[in-house]
Amino acid sequence: MKMIPVGILGATGMVGQHFVKFLQGHPQFEIAWMGASDRSAGKHYSEATSWRLDGVMPLSVAGLVVEECKPGNAPELVFSAMDASVATEIEREFAEAGHAVVSNSRNHRMELDVPLLVPEVNPDHLKLIPVQRKLRGWKGQIATNPNCSTVVLTLALGPLKPFGIKRVIVTTMQAISGAGYPGVASMDINANVIPFIGNEEEKMQQETQKILGDFADDHIAPLEAGVSAHCNRVPVVDGHTETVSVEFTTKPQAADLIHAMQSFSSVPQQRKLHSAPAHPVIYMSEKDRPQPRRDVERERGQTVFVGRLRECAVFHYKFVALGHNTIRGAAGAAVLNAELMLSEGLFGQ
Ligand SMILES: NC(=O)c1ccc[n+]([C@@H]2O[C@H](COP(=O)([O-])OP(=O)(O)OC[C@H]3O[C@@H](n4cnc5c(N)ncnc54)[C@H](OP(=O)(O)O)[C@@H]3O)[C@@H](O)[C@H]2O)c1
Repeated sequence: MKMIPVGILGATGMVGQHFVKFLQGHPQFEIAWMGASDRSAGKHYSEATSWRLDGVMPLSVAGLVVEECKPGNAPELVFSAMDASVATEIEREFAEAGHAVVSNSRNHRMELDVPLLVPEVNPDHLKLIPVQRKLRGWKGQIATNPNCSTVVLTLALGPLKPFGIKRVIVTTMQAISGAGYPGVASMDINANVIPFIGNEEEKMQQETQKILGDFADDHIAPLEAGVSAHCNRVPVVDGHTETVSVEFTTKPQAADLIHAMQSFSSVPQQRKLHSAPAHPVIYMSEKDRPQPRRDVERERGQTVFVGRLRECAVFHYKFVALGHNTIRGAAGAAVLNAELMLSEGLFGQ
C-alpha cells in the first residue's frame, strides 16, 4: 500500500510527541513534516524537542527539520497539537490552503460546521465537512476530537443512546498526564486531590451533548439531555476514571445495558480501521475494576473499560468508566479520526 505523508503541527510539544509515538509502524500514515513555533523552526526535531515519553525518540523523525506552522511545504494531512493560544488562526489557514486538519486542540470543536468526532459514536457527523467547505469556501477541512475526559464518557454512553438518555452526572478522577508537561506541581498533586480543572466541566457538558447529538440537514442537533460534570485531578499518571449516573426516558434492564456495551461495534470496526479497537467498550464483571494501573494500557489504549453497572438510588443506573487520556483521549483519537476520513474519501484522492 502507498504510504500517505502526514505533518504534525505542534510536533515538539507533549501531544505532538504522542502523535510521533502513536504513528510509529502505522500501515498508511508516515510522518514527513513537522511544524512548531519560530523558536523551534530550522532545528532538527531531536534538537528542538525534549523527548518526555518512555523510550527513545524514533530515529525516523529525529533528523527531520522543524518548520514554522505555515501552509506551503506540509502534506495534505496534518495533525494539530498546537498550543491553544495559536491554533485557531493557524488551523484555519491550513484548511483554507487545502489541508485536512485533524485537530486535537479545543479551538474549533464547538463551531457549528466542525465535526467533533468519536468515530464509533458519531461517524455520520462527518457529513458536516461538505457543509463546512461550502460555507467557508475552503478546499481543505477541519475535524476535531473531544477533550480527553469527554472521549471516555461518550464512548461509554454511545451504546446506551438508543435507550433514551435523559440526564447524566459524571465525576472524573483525571490523570496528571492530561495537564501536559510539566503539568501540576508535585507539591500540589502528591497524596492529594485537586477539585478543579479550568473549563473542563463546561467542555465535558457541551461536547457530550454535541457528540451524542444527531446530524440534521446541515447541522448537529445536540442531545437534549442534562449533563453535569465534576472534574478532579488525582495522583494517577495515565488514565481518566469516571463515575457516571444516568437517567433514561424509561428505565431499561441492567442486563440490556451491559449487553449493549459488550456488543458495541461501529463503522471503524466494520471497516477494520488500523487504530480501531476490536471492542470500543469492554465491560468488566470483577467488582473492583476497571483500575487505571491495571487496565489502561490494554487494547493499545484505544478501548474504554466499564464496570460496576448497578442501580442508582437517584437516577436509574450508575457505573465506572476508564480510558487512556493521552492515547484514546488525544493522539489515538485523532489518528482514528483521520483513518475514518480517509475511508470516506475526504482526502488522499
Ligand atoms: N496534554 C494533553 O494531554 C492534552 C490532551 C488533549 C488536548 N490537548 C491540547 O493539545 C494542544 C497541545 O497540548 P500540549 O500539552 O502538547 O502543549 P505543549 O507541550 O505546550 O506544546 C505546544 C506546541 O505548540 C507549539 N507552538 C507554540 N506556539 C506556537 C506558535 N506560535 N506557532 C506554532 N506552534 C506553536 C509548540 O512549539 P515550540 O516547542 O516551538 O514552542 C509545541 O509544539 C493544546 O491545545 C492542548 O489543549 C492536550
